[in-house]
Amino acid sequence: MSILEVKNVGKRFGGLQALSDVNLSVKENSVHAIIGPNGAGKSTLLNCLVGKLIPDTGSVMFDGQSVLGRAPYEINQMGISRVFQTPEIFGDLTVLENMMIPCLAKRDGAFELNAIASVMGQRDIIDKAEHMLVEMNMADKRHMHAASLSRGDKRRLEIGMCLSQEPRLLLLDEPTAGMARADTNNTIDLLKQISDQRDITIAIIEHDMHVVFSLANRITVLAQGTPLVEDNPENIRGNPKVREAYLGETA
Ligand SMILES: Nc1ncnc2c1ncn2[C@@H]1O[C@H](COP(=O)(O)OP(=O)(O)OP(=O)(O)O)[C@@H](O)[C@H]1O
Ligand SMILES: [Mg+2]
Repeated sequence: MSILEVKNVGKRFGGLQALSDVNLSVKENSVHAIIGPNGAGKSTLLNCLVGKLIPDTGSVMFDGQSVLGRAPYEINQMGISRVFQTPEIFGDLTVLENMMIPCLAKRDGAFELNAIASVMGQRDIIDKAEHMLVEMNMADKRHMHAASLSRGDKRRLEIGMCLSQEPRLLLLDEPTAGMARADTNNTIDLLKQISDQRDITIAIIEHDMHVVFSLANRITVLAQGTPLVEDNPENIRGNPKVREAYLGETA
């Protein structure tokens, strides 16, 4: 059964047709990778799924309900969490304080950042954030400023912040971009563990084919704003059209 259905989505920026006729079906509990060259429209598509952009045409259904026209926090409450290309954590706050933010949002719905200060002492929020840090293997770093974390740990924190909202669909936009190989491998292990141990679907945009072929059981190749092919990893590897359009020597 599919949890996310994208039908005929199109998005234009001025004279540029960034997405056209995008159809995508993401199966529940799968890891679905979206790959393609720079500028193919991958991030634009993801932004259409989380309420950051409204497509000009088409529909986006999550678990049978349209996400279009809803605010990002409403989509979040429907069960979609996302990690964007640039990490969205607060460098001046500690790891624990960062983790408290989504725990608070989950409890109270929409929230304002300055509301955090007033709940810093609230036990249920602290306990939940502490618990998630243990699950993320970051408990020993809870009093560090988030800015001082390694790139891999920043991602780990951000993924934990998403998970604390108990999403059914986790969207990741290039989670390993700019990482050293060791951090990349740690992120692969973390995502494998999340996929195996939780009732969750993962859709991941990635350029690193090692990450894609380590995790994905379904792959969509996007080229010039439109899906070129959707298939399982073995067939994607062997598809000459895909090699020509994108993979080159990377696979
Ligand atoms: N807000 C915007 N205004 C105008 N053009 C945009 C906007 N956002 C994206 N674009 C353009 O749309 C096209 C698709 O961009 P997008 O960021 O979705 O590509 P991408 O596949 O995520 O690329 P990358 O792999 O480099 O992250 C690009 O040509 C980009 O310049
Ligand atoms: Mg992008």
